[in-house]
Amino acid sequence: MYKSLAGLTGGQLANPAGPEYSILMQSIQIRINGKEHVFELNRDITESMTLSYLLREKLGYTGLKISCDEGACGACTILMDGKAVLSCMMLAIEARGHEILTIEGLPKDDVVIEAFARQCEPGYGTALQCGICTPGFVMSTKALLSENPNPTLPEVKEALSGHICRCGCYSGVAQAVLNAAKKTGQEFLKKNSKGDRS
Ligand code: FES
Ligand code: FES
Repeated sequence: MYKSLAGLTGGQLANPAGPEYSILMQSIQIRINGKEHVFELNRDITESMTLSYLLREKLGYTGLKISCDEGACGACTILMDGKAVLSCMMLAIEARGHEILTIEGLPKDDVVIEAFARQCEPGYGTALQCGICTPGFVMSTKALLSENPNPTLPEVKEALSGHICRCGCYSGVAQAVLNAAKKTGQEFLKKNSKGDRS
């Protein structure tokens, strides 16, 4: 199991044959949805295991979906250090030392989740039908709005262009993102105007 780095001396770190060195080489520490996990190579995970497999099959974060499993659909999108990444295209060991967020890590009343769930405006339609693509869209929207709280429609289309919805809910998805942006944009303005006053 994981051992704190703080307990190791310089000599131990420099000695590749020492037992502590092998602990360093084999322990994979990843923070997932706010919780620290430590995996041991060849026991908990293998070098060829994808991050999507680790999250879904080993840890039960089934919100992310595996649809194409080759980087073409966006269904497996998660956030790594706040950036949207395709978890089917990453090895689990590449997540070492990083902060991972899946849709399960978002609060139930998250602005983006609510916007997707409530989307039903006439002329745009619903943002989800079967829901397979939805967690991926939601996570990419989170990444987009954290960088750009007031995106234009072309910016939304560009940011979500890697996602495929087989139910064809694209208009509803775009409208849901713009509706979520209205809220995040207002929050952003409020925060900044407070900062101006102080
Ligand atoms: S399942 Fe990862 S991109 Fe399609
Ligand atoms: S809602 Fe069915 S694939 Fe998008």
